[in-house]
Amino acid sequence: MKNGRAKISVIGAGNVGASAAFRIAQLELADVALIDIVEEIPEGKALDLAQMCPITGSDVNLVGSTNYEDTADSDVVIITSGIPRKPGMSRDDLISTNTKVVKSVTEQVVSNSPDAILILVTNPLDAMVYVAHRVSGLSDNKVMGMAGVLDSARFRAFIAMELGVSVENINASVLGGHGDTMVPLLSNTTIAGVPIAQLVPADRLEAMVDRTRKGGAEIVALLKTGSAFYAPAVAAVEMAEAIIKDKKKVLPCCVYADGHYGIEDTFVGLPVRLGAEGVEEIIGVEISDEEMEALHVSAGKVKELCEVIDGMGIL
Ligand SMILES: NC(=O)c1ccc[n+]([C@@H]2O[C@H](COP(=O)([O-])OP(=O)(O)OC[C@H]3O[C@@H](n4cnc5c(N)ncnc54)[C@H](O)[C@@H]3O)[C@@H](O)[C@H]2O)c1
Repeated sequence: MKNGRAKISVIGAGNVGASAAFRIAQLELADVALIDIVEEIPEGKALDLAQMCPITGSDVNLVGSTNYEDTADSDVVIITSGIPRKPGMSRDDLISTNTKVVKSVTEQVVSNSPDAILILVTNPLDAMVYVAHRVSGLSDNKVMGMAGVLDSARFRAFIAMELGVSVENINASVLGGHGDTMVPLLSNTTIAGVPIAQLVPADRLEAMVDRTRKGGAEIVALLKTGSAFYAPAVAAVEMAEAIIKDKKKVLPCCVYADGHYGIEDTFVGLPVRLGAEGVEEIIGVEISDEEMEALHVSAGKVKELCEVIDGMGIL
């Protein structure tokens, strides 16, 4: 880390990106460069956020720009640029457009901040982490994706709503790819330390798992013009904060699996320890045979998508 304040660049000044910049400023976590391909929008949003800071008491610099020189020497870069889903679309439908966007953005980010740690948000998430990893040439610990933190938060919110208890009492984690094959871990879910199976009947549990898997689509169907952004933005910033503050926080993140959980050469959501070095360790937790099987199915789907990208000849 450099002397002085940390710096986070947020690429894409749309719904997720601007909300992430808002959260970073609110937490007084780091200086922010907010970048977009569209002129003036990032400048306008950064100015608005700078005018928020006297009220929130946040001493951070905010720059909005279309120029990647403004991202120079970032500690962390959150990549949200690309198109979101519309009703009826799957995340995988975004693949061709967003592969090109993430490739070009990653090249420009890395040439200005060769030591930065990258957090991908753009969908289809796991495949975009693969793209950024390949294009950047960065080591495995420095390129990761945000999905598990969001999917786990959705699962925790649904459980809290169902049981009428505090969200703070719910400990739950979702592994696997960020799609319909994600794996909410029922075996490790607890409410104030009590295993969830003791408190919720199996059919209700199954309904919550299903709602979690479709949590993104539920919001897309309601919003109609885009996808969720408040929870995704806060989730990405939780990861950035763990890195900037070297918190050693254990969070589910999309990372490179190289034999971990028996998964070879694939990017997929696994529990990791996040600190100043990025992904400092992939944590092996005990999961049921059924969950392990589902995790392998999910990793297989990511692998198929990455093969589609390879076949496009873009990288
Ligand atoms: N991983 C997750 O859990 C998760 C959650 C929510 C959204 N997402 C994804 O995040 C992405 C952004 O979602 P959003 O709601 O903010 O969309 P948005 O349309 O509001 O914002 C995207 C921004 O990216 C910009 N952009 C496009 N091409 C660019 C380029 N080449 N360089 C720089 N900027 C560029 C656009 O101008 C726009 O401002 C989508 O792909 C969405 O599917 C992922």
